[in-house]
Amino acid sequence: MEEKVLQIINKHKNKDSKLLAILHDVQDEFGYIPEEAIKTIAKELGMKKGEVYDAASFYSFFRFKPEGKHEVMICDCIVCHIKGSERIIERIEKEFGVKMGETTKDGKFTFKIVEGLGHCEHSPVMMIDGKIYGDLTPDKVVEILRGCQ
Ligand code: FES
Repeated sequence: MEEKVLQIINKHKNKDSKLLAILHDVQDEFGYIPEEAIKTIAKELGMKKGEVYDAASFYSFFRFKPEGKHEVMICDCIVCHIKGSERIIERIEKEFGVKMGETTKDGKFTFKIVEGLGHCEHSPVMMIDGKIYGDLTPDKVVEILRGCQ
């Protein structure tokens, strides 16, 4: 990993906003920003690890944990909540052995709760990799997720 991070750092060596560019490329390469990469970046740019981390965590699009192959967003806003999102969340947590915000052990899914997916007429609603699924029941959610490759 260090070698790849060093290549990325060298690519951006002479740029003004190199830290952000490096962080972007590291995330593109690994899917997130590993602790080890923060250490290498800090060392090479003459910064403290905490400074690199602070700069990166200012931006919500940088991730510090690996994400699953599929991003699953469960809407828990008011309409979806009234129509049963809580039961869906409970079922997912039981069925896949995770809490919301976590990734399954096999790396297949990362589950997130979001506030409003804009399809209230089909609530409860979830989104998998950008695709909306509505009129859900706990059984239907498990069936859809089990069908994901
Ligand atoms: S409340 Fe969930 S999509 Fe509107």
